[in-house]
Amino acid sequence: NGEKESKKWVLMATARSPTNIAVIKYWGKRDETLILPVNGSISVTLEPSHLSATTTVAVSPSFDRDRMWLNGKEILLSGGRYQSCLREIRRRAEDVKDEERGICIKREDWEGLHVHIASFNNFPTAAGLASSAAGFACLGNVTLFMCSFCPCKLMNVKEETTELSSIARQGSGSACRSLYGGFVKWAMGNKEDGSDSIAVQLANETHWEDLVILIAVVCSRQKETSSTTGMRESVETSSLLQYRSQVVVPRRLIQMEEAIQKRDFPSFAKLTCADSNQFHSVCLDTSPPIFYMNDTSHRHVQLCFLIYCIYVHGEIRLIIGLVERWNQFEGTPQVAYTYDAGPNAVLIAPNRKVARLLLQRMLFYFPPPSEKELDSYVLGDTSILQEAGLHSRKDIEALLPQQKLKQMLHPKSILEISTILYARDQAVVQFCLVVMIKLC
Ligand code: DP6
Repeated sequence: NGEKESKKWVLMATARSPTNIAVIKYWGKRDETLILPVNGSISVTLEPSHLSATTTVAVSPSFDRDRMWLNGKEILLSGGRYQSCLREIRRRAEDVKDEERGICIKREDWEGLHVHIASFNNFPTAAGLASSAAGFACLGNVTLFMCSFCPCKLMNVKEETTELSSIARQGSGSACRSLYGGFVKWAMGNKEDGSDSIAVQLANETHWEDLVILIAVVCSRQKETSSTTGMRESVETSSLLQYRSQVVVPRRLIQMEEAIQKRDFPSFAKLTCADSNQFHSVCLDTSPPIFYMNDTSHRHVQLCFLIYCIYVHGEIRLIIGLVERWNQFEGTPQVAYTYDAGPNAVLIAPNRKVARLLLQRMLFYFPPPSEKELDSYVLGDTSILQEAGLHSRKDIEALLPQQKLKQMLHPKSILEISTILYARDQAVVQFCLVVMIKLC
């Protein structure tokens, strides 16, 4: 009976983790077990109220094994990464006391105790993000990070954030950058034990507050290549990757740090787009080639602007064309785009004014399907929509007349307008083509 009583207690800790978007990409490991990268990377941490995962970790003597649930669904913890995160944390765990309940866990007791981890993301459920492959990649990152941080809190691990970032790194490389807000650099380090491969904050979240991030999430029906597998194949087969990691990225890291410090948007945007394009070129240079921005399948694109979500049907690469043409026309970058290991587009505008224009353009390119009203198409904080004068789908339709179109786009170029119109048609044609290919 006494033993039964002593097994009753459960201790819990909860923490929330943001996600981050790389503007200089991490792609390739020099050590697969310790997760040490072939080059440094820089990211922007996203506001956790919009995109984050909340994880609760519980420990009890009645638990007979470690278990983990993602959005209520149990996942296997047998993977090496989860195990190495938990092992690292257990190794650092300290005495934990809950005086109120008379519970005392000694440092050495942690080895024999098991944890239950439950993680939920706050992605708008209507956006279907949590179920998409792309959403899962993002969720995986934050969860692995939480898997490091949350038990640390519970086990009273007294480590510095840098030390925690090295535990998170062993869960998922890019997750180590989520330890800080604002702009974060993951220094590649060069020690064999990985002790200098850590994340450092370059500037906090108040440094460049005007930036606005818009994410276009694409639910692909195709199976994506995971980052882990993809980068392994790139390391083994791509010669461009060698050049990138040894020559290009070291230079870009310095330039990007400078652009961030000076809040120099044109340089920031140029570097961001160039690095995204080079990362996808490395994927294409991999054997067999990896197409993360593959556009042959019919896709639902959802845009989250802060938490705006727009559901559109169309070809994702049109977004690059849209941004490139706009930037070219203005003579200086208005908006930056970047794509991770999936077809999701992350668009960065320097301020709300440009973000409004971007939203107008995106809605024009990817108008809501006829059965959808704007408020079910664009979700979240709608204040910027109001500012853009977009209250209902009629307002988007009002963007259509040539006159308005001319104002929005290149004032002189008829070609520009026909390209846009072609793009709009193509979004539909794209779908038909897929059907035809399938029939053959
Ligand atoms: C394209 O961190 O998911 O998003 O370390 O194998 O878990 P593993 O890979 P992961 O890779 C992310 C790659 C990227 C670029 C980036 O975030 O820097």
